[in-house]
Amino acid sequence: MHGKDLLSIGQMSVEEFESVLELALKVKSNPDDYEHALPQMTMAMIFEKPSLRTRVSFEAGMTQLGGHAIYLGPNDISLGKRESVPDIARTLDGMVDIIMARVFQNESVLTLAEYASVPVINGLCNLHHPCQALADFQTILEKKGSLKGLKLAFLGDGNNVAHSLLEAGAKSGTSVTIVCPPGYEPNKEIFEQAEAEGAKTGAKMLVTNDVKEGVKGVDAIYTDVWASMGQEKEAEERKKIFAPYQVNSEVMKMADKEAIFMHCLPAHRGEEVTDEVVESWQSVVFEEAENRMHAEKAVILKLMIKDID
Ligand code: CP
Ligand code: NVA
Repeated sequence: MHGKDLLSIGQMSVEEFESVLELALKVKSNPDDYEHALPQMTMAMIFEKPSLRTRVSFEAGMTQLGGHAIYLGPNDISLGKRESVPDIARTLDGMVDIIMARVFQNESVLTLAEYASVPVINGLCNLHHPCQALADFQTILEKKGSLKGLKLAFLGDGNNVAHSLLEAGAKSGTSVTIVCPPGYEPNKEIFEQAEAEGAKTGAKMLVTNDVKEGVKGVDAIYTDVWASMGQEKEAEERKKIFAPYQVNSEVMKMADKEAIFMHCLPAHRGEEVTDEVVESWQSVVFEEAENRMHAEKAVILKLMIKDID
């Protein structure tokens, strides 16, 4: 992966996906081994949207690797408004060693990668949230011991998080079912590609509108906000449409007895998930959040250092 970008899970090979998770576990258990890995190295972090986990995990992660990160918020560089994306990419390219960007359009992160020679990491866009899926699969691996043959159900909107989970499931042999209201299915192209990849690793990808059918016996139930950042105007309408897809204790009971509850956070308690489920013994939401940092440190090391393991 040295010198490459991380724009989606779909673009990674199965070997790359597995090796990032393997390194993430090592980085987590032996952080001191990597504290001088990136001396004097700087990451530019571009944000068109708010963030807690993405900002803090990347910034703390760079510090822990011996480097430094610069936060460029929505009002700092106004991607595409104050300055074009290609101009921003080429300017940063001359000063920093790696770029992370949270943007609205997938196109923006693709353009940054095209114009910057340094690695670019997608920190969330309308289509993907690859770093979240890496942290999530690290968490599942830690909780369940392996990924192959497991089943995960995602309840809610067929959104960026759902897309990256489908792609990660396909890489790891974990079957993923998206349980959503009609009209909110995942992107067809992303789904079909995950389906084809999954056929090679033994993972089945499904979409259903039926909660009972989707969550029956699964090892993990995942949900995300019903209105993503940028969809605030649709929030009230979506509350009505998505209400039958709430993850509550009844839904958790339909899954495997040992099933875990997952959420990328932030959570809207009382909407997509009840307070009771977030606070239950099955919930791993704060482990997922912490693993963002370990998984991202692994990604940064892979992109910046040749032959790291
Ligand atoms: N899960 C996640 O990406 O959180 P933030 O939006 O707080 O970065
Ligand atoms: N789907 C959500 C994820 C937030 C981490 C959003 O895009 O707002």
